[in-house]
Amino acid sequence: MDFLRIDETKCKQDGICAAECPRRIITQKDDKSFPEISEADEAKCMACGHCVAVCPHGALSMKGLDIKDCPEIEKDLVLSWGQAEQFLRSRRSIRWFKDKAMDRKTLERLIKTACYAPTASNAQNLQWTVIQGRDRLERLSRATIHWMERVIAAHPDAPAAGYFRPVVDGWATGNDGILRTAQTLIVPSAPRENANGLVDVSIALAYLELAALPLGVGTCWAGLLRGAMLATPELVESMGLPEGHTWFYPMMIGYPKFKYYRLPERNTPVIHYK
Ligand SMILES: Cc1cc2nc3c(=O)[nH]c(=O)nc-3n(C[C@H](O)[C@H](O)[C@H](O)COP(=O)(O)O)c2cc1C
Repeated sequence: MDFLRIDETKCKQDGICAAECPRRIITQKDDKSFPEISEADEAKCMACGHCVAVCPHGALSMKGLDIKDCPEIEKDLVLSWGQAEQFLRSRRSIRWFKDKAMDRKTLERLIKTACYAPTASNAQNLQWTVIQGRDRLERLSRATIHWMERVIAAHPDAPAAGYFRPVVDGWATGNDGILRTAQTLIVPSAPRENANGLVDVSIALAYLELAALPLGVGTCWAGLLRGAMLATPELVESMGLPEGHTWFYPMMIGYPKFKYYRLPERNTPVIHYK
């Protein structure tokens, strides 16, 4: 009974929570009884909080999701379409970061916000490894350059070699085209058995880079480092990622050196209606 707590003075027995429950485990015998979850069904609950979120009367709490910890949606903070569209279009991949260490409180705020991203079956089992310091990041970039040199030597005519050559040449002249000028790298990871880890991690990173915007923080997906990580187990080992976890994508994070004033257009989407 403690699993689903109904405030009987507020509940209107309207059946909305039962209808909303994605696992269909909230039941209501009739429109005069209160909603409940049988003890046998408790283990099926994925604690998504939809029942708490959807109740218009604030009548419901769940084990681990007390209504006190679930703030009401503030009407004044709801974005207009114009605000949402400009916000989403204004995110940029950052290639120049300020020479300033990432503030830990800000980083934790962003990671916490990224945890509001959806995860398959509401697994919420990502962990975050934060690698800090320009020296460390430069070592990772150097290892990536060595991997690129090996690829160029082994497959000089492959398209990858054509893409890598200017990056390797740039490194020789002091330009880090791998981790740019970032001082911090974040690497979310998921338990190996999480079949949807890649998707969970990707959505969390996408949330994080959007959440970063209003805090004056910028990000960039570190695709070249990822290539080197896939090919070089000892590089991954040197990063000290959690045991039993699979990493999917590293991301640079820091304070952008430059501001952006315009919104570049994208290709027109190709849509197939069937
Ligand atoms: C999966 C992925 C990997 C990427 N890898 C890199 C990278 O290694 N280096 C880099 O400078 N940018 C990288 N980018 C950034 C893209 O180049 C960038 O998103 C694209 O040029 C559009 O620019 P915008 O993000 O500023 O809109 C990556 C982006 C994604 C989504």
